[in-house]
Amino acid sequence: MKTIQIGSDEHRDLFCKSFVETHRPYRPEDIRLLDLDSERLARLKSLPVWNEAVRTESETAMKVQTLGKVETDPVLAEAISLQGYEEGRHAAVISLLTRQYGISVAPFPEPRPPADPVGAFISTGYGECMDSFFAFGLFAIGKRSQFFPADLIDIFEPIMQEEARHILFLVNWAAYLRARTSLFGKPFFDIRRTWKIGAQVAEHALHAARIGKGGETQEEGFTMTSHQSFGDLSARSFLELCLSENERRLSPYDSRLLRPQLVPSFVRLVLKVMPRPSRPQPLSNQASGSPDA
Ligand SMILES: [Fe+2]
Ligand SMILES: [Fe+2]
Repeated sequence: MKTIQIGSDEHRDLFCKSFVETHRPYRPEDIRLLDLDSERLARLKSLPVWNEAVRTESETAMKVQTLGKVETDPVLAEAISLQGYEEGRHAAVISLLTRQYGISVAPFPEPRPPADPVGAFISTGYGECMDSFFAFGLFAIGKRSQFFPADLIDIFEPIMQEEARHILFLVNWAAYLRARTSLFGKPFFDIRRTWKIGAQVAEHALHAARIGKGGETQEEGFTMTSHQSFGDLSARSFLELCLSENERRLSPYDSRLLRPQLVPSFVRLVLKVMPRPSRPQPLSNQASGSPDA
């Protein structure tokens, strides 16, 4: 397959077309949630993720939809607006689930459009790159352990795959934007992006530190706190699983598109220096079935 020049119209058309063509048209209101027995319901309610999940998806939807409205390139605008719609749909699905199962969600202020839509998209997008990488592994564990009922897994599977499409879009969009920036503007673009990524890393590290101290609350650390709900697992096995799931979820898309590198590269480095367990732990070899996209 021939390579593609990053920043070209062909590159833009490929990452936008790939995104739009892999969109799955379903409506939250068509989802039928089954009744759960009291044990499964209690287990679902005990997950400390609901407040953060509803709030984050609503805020992300507002940020992405705002960029979709102000983007002047119609090809980019179509794909970004569709992503904004998908984020809104994530919020709607989670709200539906919490209402149906009587899971209380703390009220939060209505999200407001960001003053800097491009900056907000960069920030949110790289934050999603971090969250999604670990969420892919957590979801695989939840699926395998049957922690969640099968019909809930079926509801969240497309959401997971949509997040994979979102981070794929983000890294290609950012590379496209950078390539189209003048030589003089490139250092400013890099500084801005590095600053936004750094802020996301700091935010995630703070969450991790709070978890380490046992001070985590329901309002914080969506993916990280949910990790605690799935029992014992070595850090190495978990990271290896995240890597393999990340690769699997991104594998269906055109190989000419850039892949998120930051978190996977860092995790590979961590795995190199992490001591190996005395007994082999084949968890990452048990990756679940193929994605739906
Ligand atoms: Fe989302
Ligand atoms: Fe997303």
